[in-house]
This record gives sequence, structure tokens and C-alpha cells, in this order.
Amino acid sequence: MGADLTTGVGSVSLPNPVMTASGTAGHGAELGAYGALSDLGAVVVKSLSPGPWEGNAAPRVHEVAAGMLNSVGLQGPGVPTWVAVELPALVALGARVVASIWGRRVEDFAEAAKGLAGAPGVVAVEVNVSCPNVEDRSRMFAHSPSATAEAVEAAAAAGLPRWAKLSPNVADLCEVAGAALGAGAEALTLVNTLLGMSVDVERRRPALGAGGGGLSGPALHPVAVRAVWECREAFPDAGIVGVGGVSNGTDAVELLLAGADAVQVGTATFRDPKAPWKVLAGVERWCRHHRVGRVADLVGAAHVR
Ligand SMILES: Cc1cc2nc3c(=O)[nH]c(=O)nc-3n(C[C@H](O)[C@H](O)[C@H](O)COP(=O)(O)O)c2cc1C
Repeated sequence: MGADLTTGVGSVSLPNPVMTASGTAGHGAELGAYGALSDLGAVVVKSLSPGPWEGNAAPRVHEVAAGMLNSVGLQGPGVPTWVAVELPALVALGARVVASIWGRRVEDFAEAAKGLAGAPGVVAVEVNVSCPNVEDRSRMFAHSPSATAEAVEAAAAAGLPRWAKLSPNVADLCEVAGAALGAGAEALTLVNTLLGMSVDVERRRPALGAGGGGLSGPALHPVAVRAVWECREAFPDAGIVGVGGVSNGTDAVELLLAGADAVQVGTATFRDPKAPWKVLAGVERWCRHHRVGRVADLVGAAHVR
């Protein structure tokens, strides 16, 4: 018999610990062409703002050693259009949907969250605070514990469990994580991309249209493992979702052992759209080979208590 793959992220129960990562599987059911979305733990959609947003200038993605840089710039249709046009297809396919929201000011988070209140099939809201706060010299919300707390508080308008998606580009991640949890987040999603940049030496210009971008993929994996490890040490009872460079079952198990209740698969999906299902199959295989009966028993098991 296979392992019991069920897990919980805060108050949200999931049939297994593998989800898509925001921004890497579209806004709707796009990935449904490659596998049953209902077989994944959850589908996290690309971050949504209160209204439509155009995003950054092209090129928006650039391959680098052991990963990629992106500066998509949070392009999206806005919450009301997403609820009306994209969400029904996800629900019809039986996906458990996590809606990610972002904003340029605290009120945007409140408005986006309000638009999600009562939306069918949405099990949680992921509050992406790794975006520029126009009221604070465009520093990321996630760079400030108090701005992070305000955004997470504002997202309560959704009436859904809140997960705070944090940035690794901070001096003290646990301080920001503590502020998010203090503001009502049930879970931490760790981590968003690392700030990075490439220069095209032939054109003598930045490789990305926006200049800098976010680094993701295998290069980010050890950063995610450490973030999860440190936050699990600091917050033994918090929900934690690990994300960063997960390409196979072993990467996922590593994040679970470091303290994640579940994981998300992002950049790997660009190379192989079936990656989230392959990672899930890899976790099952790992459990079978190692005679692990319950995935939940792996969570945080690398910590000496
Ligand atoms: C093209 C692209 C777009 C992304 N868009 C979002 C986004 O809209 N919201 C968000 O919270 N994270 C976004 N991310 C970050 C991912 O969700 C994830 O945190 C990060 O890429 C690390 O995971 P990975 O190494 O598996 O890709 C994006 C990443 C990529 C590569």
C-alpha cells in the first residue's frame, strides 16, 4: 500500500504536499492539459491585484546557470475578472485553489482580498508581499516587518486562511515571518525569488527588459531549505510551505525534512509542464523505498528536538 500523503498547512487539509508555485502555472487551468489538477495538493495561481496590470517590458525571462531570472512584473487580469473568467474552470476540474494577491499599497491588498470573499473553491489566500510598496520608496513590503504585517492584516478581508509569501532578500527572515504570523497569517510560503541580474555582453545592456529580476530554480533550493529550517526552528507550530528549486521528489522530501508541511514547484514546470505530478510521484516513490507510512511524519524530522 502507498504512503498516506495527506498533510495540513495551517487549517487547510490537503490530499498531498505538492502544489504549483505562483506565477509558474498561469492564472487558470492552463496546466490542466498536462495532468489532473485535482491530483495536486493545490493549484496556486499567479498573483492578482485588484484590477488588471500590464507587467514589465520584454524580455521577461532569461536562463542563467542553475536557474532563471524573471521580471514578469505581476501581469494579470485583476481579481474580479479572474473570479469570473478563470476560477470556474479550475473549480470544474476539482482543483483546490490558492489565490495569490499582491498590491502596490496596503489598500490594494484589502481590495484584492475583498474580491475573493466567498469565491467558490478557493481554500486559502497567499499574500505575496515580495512586491514594491509605492508608499515606502518602492521598497518591498517583505523588506519591512511592519509593512508585511499591514498587508497580511488587510488580506483578512477575504475571510480565508492567509499564507504570507516572503522574500529571502532580508537580513532577518524570522523577524518578518514573526510579523506575518502576528498579523494573522496561518502559514509562511518560503521563498520568493532572490534579486538578481544578467548583463548581455554583446548588447552591453541588461538581459531583462526591466533591468534586474528574480532568480529561481535549482540555484535557489539551498536558500529555501535554510529559510524553511530557520522558520521551523523559530515557529514550531506555524504552517510552512517550502518553495525554491524543487525539481524532483528528493528536493521535495528535503524541504519536508527541513520543516515544510508542503512544497510548491515553480521553475521546473517551464522545463517540463508535468513536473508537479512527477515531483509528487517522486515523493511517493521515496516514501515507498524508505518505508515511510505517512508523509506528515517527515515534516521537520531533520531537526533534533
Ligand atoms: C516566471 C515567474 C513568475 C513568478 N510570478 C510570481 C508571482 O506572480 N507571485 C509570486 O508570489 N511568486 C512568483 N514567482 C515566484 C515563484 O512562485 C517561486 O517562489 C520561485 O520561483 C521559487 O520557486 P522555483 O525555484 O521552484 O521556481 C514567479 C517565478 C517565476 C519563475
